[in-house]
Amino acid sequence: MNILVLNGSPKGERSNTMQLTHAFLEGLGSGHSTQILELQTLTIKGCRGCFACWKATPGQCVIKDDMALVLEKLRSADLVIFSFPLYYFGVPGVMKHMIDRQLPNVLPFMEERSDGVGSGSHRARYDMSGKKYVIISTCGFWSAKGNYDAVLGMFDHICGKDNYETILCGQGELFSVPELSGRTGAYLESVRRAGAEYLSGGIREQTRAQLSELLYPKEVFEEMADASWGVSRESGECEPESLSFTRQMAALYNKDSYDGKDRVLEMCYTDLGQTYQIRLTRSGSEVITDGSLRATTRIETPWQVWKDIAAGRIGGTEALAKHLYTVKGDFSLMIRWDDFFGTHKAAPVTERTDSRLKKPLMAAMIALWMTLWIAVSIDTFIGALVTIGVCAALPLLLIRHEQTVYDKLSASLVAGAALLALGTGDGSLASDAGYLAFGLLWLVSAFTREPLCAAYVKYKYGGQKALDNPLFVSTNRILAAAWGGLYVLLAPAAFLMQHAGLTAASLIVCNAVPLLMGLFTVWFEGWYPAHVAQG
Ligand SMILES: Cc1cc2nc3c(=O)[nH]c(=O)nc-3n(C[C@H](O)[C@H](O)[C@H](O)COP(=O)(O)O)c2cc1C
Repeated sequence: MNILVLNGSPKGERSNTMQLTHAFLEGLGSGHSTQILELQTLTIKGCRGCFACWKATPGQCVIKDDMALVLEKLRSADLVIFSFPLYYFGVPGVMKHMIDRQLPNVLPFMEERSDGVGSGSHRARYDMSGKKYVIISTCGFWSAKGNYDAVLGMFDHICGKDNYETILCGQGELFSVPELSGRTGAYLESVRRAGAEYLSGGIREQTRAQLSELLYPKEVFEEMADASWGVSRESGECEPESLSFTRQMAALYNKDSYDGKDRVLEMCYTDLGQTYQIRLTRSGSEVITDGSLRATTRIETPWQVWKDIAAGRIGGTEALAKHLYTVKGDFSLMIRWDDFFGTHKAAPVTERTDSRLKKPLMAAMIALWMTLWIAVSIDTFIGALVTIGVCAALPLLLIRHEQTVYDKLSASLVAGAALLALGTGDGSLASDAGYLAFGLLWLVSAFTREPLCAAYVKYKYGGQKALDNPLFVSTNRILAAAWGGLYVLLAPAAFLMQHAGLTAASLIVCNAVPLLMGLFTVWFEGWYPAHVAQG
């Protein structure tokens, strides 16, 4: 297929819209002959209205410039893609010139239109039947809705009503902000899909719905857009770049993630000597420049490092682990950073389906072991049978949850300990063996890519991608090793105490120590990442 792209953005290849157009072309696949005409680099003068192309020199324009080439390309293309930004609710001047200069391609005679558009038309001078048209455009307001009436009205006349496809996207300037490439990249992926579907029967409804989703909610976008000019709303004067950047960051705050705690995030750009505060509350965010609030979390960072993190050139936790910046105060903000400042509700559909994924349930795994220890201590024989029954029922108990490898290993180990109780008739031995197996399970997991506790709590920290977070993994590794070590020591201790006749003491130790360890875990989860973050 011969594809002709007419790029009507004065910015040429730096055009936001062309990012969409390139994605669409990628979706169309290889094997086509594609030509992109950068209209702003061609000489296309305005039509003189002399009608010479209809009368004196039929089909030939008297202006000798690059339009002859465009007309020829238009005639031979199978698919014409008009790619342009919305300018004053119309097409940019260079594209309008190009459209006006198409007069030589039509005949002068008056005709009725079959599609009922307008009050007349001119038939094509050449065979233009079977040609396909796609309009791709971005605009600056928060939504494309209602802005393209004039443009679409014009293309109804040029291409024929319902005879062309459109991809129209608001918030177009966001495509040139690397910090937001996560969201814009997802949109471009939908455009790519639209390209592939266009050739095989048409763009599907689901893809159309994704293309009409906002990149960001209206208020978030407008706040970001207003802040991006780097000009004070009050004085109209230029503001420091770091302040405008901080305002844009604050605009991204997702108030739906508010957890009942008001926060003040203090951004200290160490090399610039500038500090700004962002108040984060239930109702939204606000940037404070006079430092009048008491910070709950303070980030001390060189300006460039923070910009690199925001643009995704370096990971936030990786930079933290390398001590490129430090964090003081409440660390929970950092742990939930993606919730607070990540992609908003207008996120791509794929992320929404992720949230419906089954999640594992640590309580079910722990319940297996508790059943063994409690049931067998009450009655060795019946307790062991009950334990085996619970292990067998585990897939049913977890029907709404993901089963981790630790669930499956626990079920086998617990059932094994229960069989030991049945075989020996010794409930204490089975319990002690259980302590040892439980300890070893934790301990060995500490040396794997996904320590035991990480397998269950990673969903609170972004799912699988939490495992790429060195701070998350090291926190869980230490905790897994601590729990493992504790139970490995608890097994012989309980055994010795029981054989020394200290059954009551053994019971107290076996219950009190894990309780204390639980309290330690809660404290350590908060303390350790914050300790590393303080450098
Ligand atoms: C002169 C001018 C006029 C514009 N008019 C509109 C407009 O009427 N409506 C709108 O939503 N955006 C308008 N915009 C914003 C652009 O459409 C928007 O920035 C677009 O993403 C630029 O795309 P490009 O990078 O492909 O040129 C205008 C921009 C300029 C420079």
